[in-house]
Amino acid sequence: MSVQYQAIGWNRQKRIYDSILAIGSALYLAIFVGAGVVLYPTATAETLLIRGFGTLALVLLHVILCIGPLCRLDRRFLPLLYNRRHLGIAMFLMALVHGVFSMIQFHALGDVSPLVSLFVSNTRFDSLANFPFQVLGFVALLILFLMAATSHDFWLHNLSAPVWKRIHMMVYLAYGLLVAHVVLGALQSDTNAALAILLGIGLCTVALLHLLAGGKERRIDRIVAAAEAEGFVEVCRVEHIAEKRAKIVSLQGERVAVFRYEGKVSAVSNVCRHQNGPLGEGKIIDGCITCPWHGYQYLPESGASPAPFTDKVATFQTRIVGEKVLVHPSAHPPGTRLEPAVIQLAHAGAQR
Ligand code: HEM
Ligand code: FES
Repeated sequence: MSVQYQAIGWNRQKRIYDSILAIGSALYLAIFVGAGVVLYPTATAETLLIRGFGTLALVLLHVILCIGPLCRLDRRFLPLLYNRRHLGIAMFLMALVHGVFSMIQFHALGDVSPLVSLFVSNTRFDSLANFPFQVLGFVALLILFLMAATSHDFWLHNLSAPVWKRIHMMVYLAYGLLVAHVVLGALQSDTNAALAILLGIGLCTVALLHLLAGGKERRIDRIVAAAEAEGFVEVCRVEHIAEKRAKIVSLQGERVAVFRYEGKVSAVSNVCRHQNGPLGEGKIIDGCITCPWHGYQYLPESGASPAPFTDKVATFQTRIVGEKVLVHPSAHPPGTRLEPAVIQLAHAGAQR
């Protein structure tokens, strides 16, 4: 068996995202170094660059951590989520520049290699005031590297989704290490109150957004559980069904095609009355589900063919809770009109 490698496909949206990221980062660094020259005339260019790249990486990491909960709270943030991996790689590169510059600046002049020096020059692990905070930054950088290196879909498919997810959840460990890296590092240098305050605000924002999104997910889970008690089955998320297309699911041994169209979701039997063609592989044309084999048509709400035709397929009740699509597995007699589930406005435009 061989695995096919698919190169990244750049589209207009990705190009705009990356341009904003590159211009924003360059502006941040220019302002940071410019302000540093004015406010701290004794600081060297190396120090300003080390601090500029380090703080930029940390700002980007905060943005990355906020995007997930923001999208769960309001779907309008979704465009940020789709290219979040680019943000992750950019953040890793900024952190790498900061780490490498720091090692050259503080660990390259001794008689051991900078990497060895990083670990042996200070071993005061028992002291809070003199803790070797650089080691924490190094471990965090390794985690960020692992995430950046496995960010492509190639790794998602080959490592399997659960393993990939576990690797990428380590971002929270990296974040914790970096908070400690900055706090313990600041204790040892000319303590910068602005940095401490900004980090505090960042930490509170990340925690608050995660709590709010978690609360919303729990409310949705309760409604889903109530619908499941009535017999409904969660089949997918709204964004996983393309407009005018279907997702085919198997419910109690029967294949059901769940169609999304004009802000609504309806479900019908997947089996065409003509020659058992897979309706869920067809699409909605002129408002009708159109069989991909020979073009028989059915109205999505009722499963009935438009007049003068008389063919009918079974229909299934649908519900939408949050972003989740639920279908009741009991088939209604062919041609029974059922109210489609309505997609809330915020979801309507979102689609992978
Ligand atoms: C090999 C890994 C790393 C090393 C050796 C390292 C080293 C350092 C050093 C020496 C400082 C103090 C700089 C100064 O006070 O002038 C520092 C501060 C800092 N580091 Fe790191 N670091 C590493 C990784 C990271 C990573 C991965 C991040 C973020 C993603 C990061 C973010 C920061 C920040 C925000 C500061 C505070 C900057 C300031 O004082 O204004 N570091 N680091
Ligand atoms: S099988 Fe559906 S049109 Fe023929």
